[in-house]
Amino acid sequence: MAVTGILLVLFLIAHMLGNLKIFTGATSFDHYAHWLRELGAPLLPNAGFLWIQRVGLLAAVLLHIWAATVLALRARAARPVRYAHRKKVRGSYAARTMRWGGVIILLFVIYHILDLTTGTLNPVGDPARPYANIVADFAPERWYVTAFYTLAIVALGFHLRHGVFSALRSLGQQTPRGEQRARAVALAFAVVLCAGYLVVPFAVLTGLVS
Ligand code: HEM
Repeated sequence: MAVTGILLVLFLIAHMLGNLKIFTGATSFDHYAHWLRELGAPLLPNAGFLWIQRVGLLAAVLLHIWAATVLALRARAARPVRYAHRKKVRGSYAARTMRWGGVIILLFVIYHILDLTTGTLNPVGDPARPYANIVADFAPERWYVTAFYTLAIVALGFHLRHGVFSALRSLGQQTPRGEQRARAVALAFAVVLCAGYLVVPFAVLTGLVS
C-alpha cells in the first residue's frame, strides 16, 4: 500500500507543479506539454516518456487497489464473527472514507482522461493546446465541471491525509510524538496539494486565467 501510494504521490506532486505553469501563460504552458512528449528523445520515441509513465501509473493503481483488498480481507478473516456492538467513532473522517474516496478518485481519473488527455469530453479537445482545453473546461457557464473537480480533489485530499499518515506508520513511525508529527505532516501535505490543484479551475472560473 505504502510503496504504490508513494509512487502515486510523486506523480501528484509533479502533475500539480506542471499545472501551476498555467499562470505563466498559454505559450509557455503549451510548450511545457509539448516538452513532455519529447522528453527522453532521441533515446525514446515521441511520447515515449508519457507511455512509460502511463504503464507505471496503471500498475501502481492496480497494485494499490489489490493491496487494499488483501488488507480488508485479512482484517475480516482476523475477526470472522462481526462485533455485536460497534463503537460509533472509529478513527478520523479521512480514515473512514478511504474506500469510497478511492472510488470517487478512480471515477474522476477516468473522466479526467476523457476530458483533458483524449479531449473527447472537452469543448475544445485539442491535445496540442492544453491551455485552451483548460480555459474552455472551467469556463463560468460550465461551473458544474469545476464543482465535480472540486469534489474529486477534496476527496483526494482526505484520501491523502489518511494515506500519508498510514504510509509514515508503515515505514517505521512508532512513538506517540512521532504519531503527532505524522498527523501534522499528513494534514499539511493534503492541504497544500488540494490548494495547488484547486487554484487552477478557480483561476479560470474567476477570469484570472483566460
Ligand atoms: C484542476 C486540476 C487538474 C488539472 C487542471 C489537470 C490537467 C491535466 C491536463 C491538461 C492533462 C493532459 C496533459 C497532457 O496531455 O499534456 C492531464 C492529464 C492527467 N491528469 Fe490531470 N489535472 C488536474 C488534476 C488531476 C488529478 C487530481 C489527478 C489524479 C488524481 C490527475 C491525473 C491525471 C492523469 C493520470 C493524466 C493522464 C496523463 C497521461 O496523459 O498519461 N489530474 N491533467
